[in-house]
Amino acid sequence: MEGKKEIVLSGIRPTGFVHLGNYFGAIRNWVNMQTEFDCYFCVVDWHSLTTHPDTKELQTNVHRLMSELIGSGLDPEKCVLYIQSDVPEIAELYLYLNMMAYKGELEKTVTFKDKVRMQPDNVNAGLLTYPVLQSADILIHRAVKVPVGKDQEQHIEMTRNFAERFNHRYGDVLSLPYAFNYGSELTKVMSLDGIGKMSKSENQMNTLYLADDDDSIRKKIMKAKTDSGPTEPNSVKPDFIDGLFSLMKIVSKNDVVEKFESDFNNCNIRYGDMKKQLAEDMINFISPIRKRTEDIRKDENYMKRVMKLGAEKARENANITLQTVRNAIGLKYY
Ligand code: TYM
Repeated sequence: MEGKKEIVLSGIRPTGFVHLGNYFGAIRNWVNMQTEFDCYFCVVDWHSLTTHPDTKELQTNVHRLMSELIGSGLDPEKCVLYIQSDVPEIAELYLYLNMMAYKGELEKTVTFKDKVRMQPDNVNAGLLTYPVLQSADILIHRAVKVPVGKDQEQHIEMTRNFAERFNHRYGDVLSLPYAFNYGSELTKVMSLDGIGKMSKSENQMNTLYLADDDDSIRKKIMKAKTDSGPTEPNSVKPDFIDGLFSLMKIVSKNDVVEKFESDFNNCNIRYGDMKKQLAEDMINFISPIRKRTEDIRKDENYMKRVMKLGAEKARENANITLQTVRNAIGLKYY
C-alpha cells in the first residue's frame, strides 16, 4: 500500500551471551532500521530447543537477551520486540510451510549438516525443519527485509523458495523477503584467533561479548594471535591479523586505523601497541552497552511490560497473515 513502510523482521536465539558478531552482523542494523521501517525483532526460544533441550537456563537467557537488545539501542516504542513462543500463529504457519519444504533440500542445508556433526545423538526433526520455522517467523509478518549476518543467507533464500511454492499453489499471498545489510555485503565477524566466526557458545576466549567487563576485553584482545609482522612492504594480511584490523575498523577512529594500516604496509607495525589501542577502543564501545543492559535488567516491571506489549503487537500483525493464508488454502468449512 502506498505510503506504508516496508516490513522488517529478524531474530536471535537465546542460547548464550550476545557477542560482537551478533551486534555487527545484525543488531546494529536493527537499531538503525527501527526509525526507517516497520520493524519486528524476535527472541526465538522455540529455535533454541532444537539444540538446547535442557531449559533450566532458558528464562534467564531470554530475560538477559531482551535486556541486551534494549541496552544495544532497540527501543520497544519504535519497534515490536517479542518472544517467539508468545506468538502461536508462527507455529501454525510453520505447519503449512512444512508441506512446501522437501526433505532433500533440508538435509543439504549447511547449518543442518553442521549441527548433525555437533550433536550426532540428537538429530531431531526440529533441527531438520529449523529453516521452515525461521521462514514462518519471517513470512508471518510479511517482512521483505531481513537484517542478518552472512551465516543466515541460505535460510533466507530457502524462505523465498517456500513462499514462492506456497504462492504458486494457493495464490499470491506471501511476501518475498531478502537478506539485508546497510553495507554492500552481509557481515561475518571472525573470532579473535582468526579461525571461524565468533559464536555464542563456542570458543569463549576468542569471542568478545557485550557482557564482558573491561578486564576481560583487555585480556582477550592482548592474547589474540599475532606474528612477528610482515617482512615485505604491502603484504597480504594473514587471516588472524586481518580479523584484528576488521575489529579496529568497527570501533576505532579512521585515523587510528590508517596509522596501523600504514605501519603494516611499511613493515614497522607493533602489534602490542595495536592491540592496546584496540582494547581501549573496544572498552569504550562495549562498556556503555553493558551498563545500560544491567540497569534495564534490574527493572523487572519494565521488562515485563515490554514483553507483554511486544507479544500483543506481534500477534495482531501475525493474525492478519494467518487469516489470509487459511483462506487461500481453503480451510473454511462453515
Ligand atoms: P543467531 O542467534 O545465531 O544470530 C543472530 C544474528 O547474529 C548474526 N551473527 C553474525 N553475524 C556476523 N558475524 C558473526 N560471527 C555472527 N554470528 C551471528 C546472525 O547472522 C544473525 O543475524 N537462525 C537465526 C535466528 C532466527 C532468525 C529468524 C533470523 C530465527 N528466526 C528469522 C532472521 C529471521 C540464528 O540462529 O541467529
